[in-house]
Amino acid sequence: MKGVQLFLVASAFLAFAWSLASASDPSPLQDFCVAINDTKDGVFVNGKFCQDPKLAKAEDFFYSGLNIPRNTSNPLGSTVTQVNVAQILGLNTLGISLARIDYAPYGGLNPPHTHPRASEILVVLEGTLYVGFVTSNPENRLITKVLYPGDVFVFPVGLIHFQLNIGKTNAVAFAGLSSQNPGVITIAKAVFGSNPPINPDVLTKAFQLDKNIVTSLQSRFWWDNN
Ligand SMILES: *[C@@H]1O[C@H](CO)[C@@H](O)[C@H](O)[C@H]1NC(C)=O
Ligand SMILES: *[C@@H]1O[C@H](CO)[C@@H](O)[C@H](O)[C@H]1NC(C)=O
Repeated sequence: MKGVQLFLVASAFLAFAWSLASASDPSPLQDFCVAINDTKDGVFVNGKFCQDPKLAKAEDFFYSGLNIPRNTSNPLGSTVTQVNVAQILGLNTLGISLARIDYAPYGGLNPPHTHPRASEILVVLEGTLYVGFVTSNPENRLITKVLYPGDVFVFPVGLIHFQLNIGKTNAVAFAGLSSQNPGVITIAKAVFGSNPPINPDVLTKAFQLDKNIVTSLQSRFWWDNN
């Protein structure tokens, strides 16, 4: 194999290894890559196909309405408004996104969940939030804080975290996330509300519960606040 070919193969391998090892979105290789809003199932790529950059327009980098409070009358008392590559096509390949979270007074909860592809930095605008995350095994240390308007808190990538409104008023927070598509795994919903259901024997042993409690949990409706 010639030197140049060897170099190219080695570079490709290193790039591939880096993409496996890196927990964040890959870096862009051009100014932007406004996604084609293609809802058809075609070839799946890691991200989305780019439009011709000459066709880019302001709307591809724009979203509005995040000032509007969302309805939190639901079983969790919270609503997440996601602003990621699905809402802003111009976020494709840029490795960031945003969310607004509204919490009902007296216990509005964004329940324990993880973002498999993003760290999160959250700023409270209104209200009082009890927030926390749990470190990975074996310590599983719980790290919590009560947040007031203007306070900022970080949830490291992949860790289970939550926010609870412990105040008497609505609470509002905005979160920045280090992926164009952070993903959400809500623990209770994923475990007890999977489709099809996980074999109850698995959950009975894993959660040290009676089987009838497991089947009762599995029969419930698990609200998705996203
Ligand atoms: C909020 O949602 C609930 C449940 O869907 C509904 O009954 C209520 O009218 C909504 N409130 C507003 C202000 O839209
Ligand atoms: C993508 O297309 C769908 C279906 O036409 C539309 O509902 C959605 O708003 C579009 N998304 C963006 C970000 O333009």
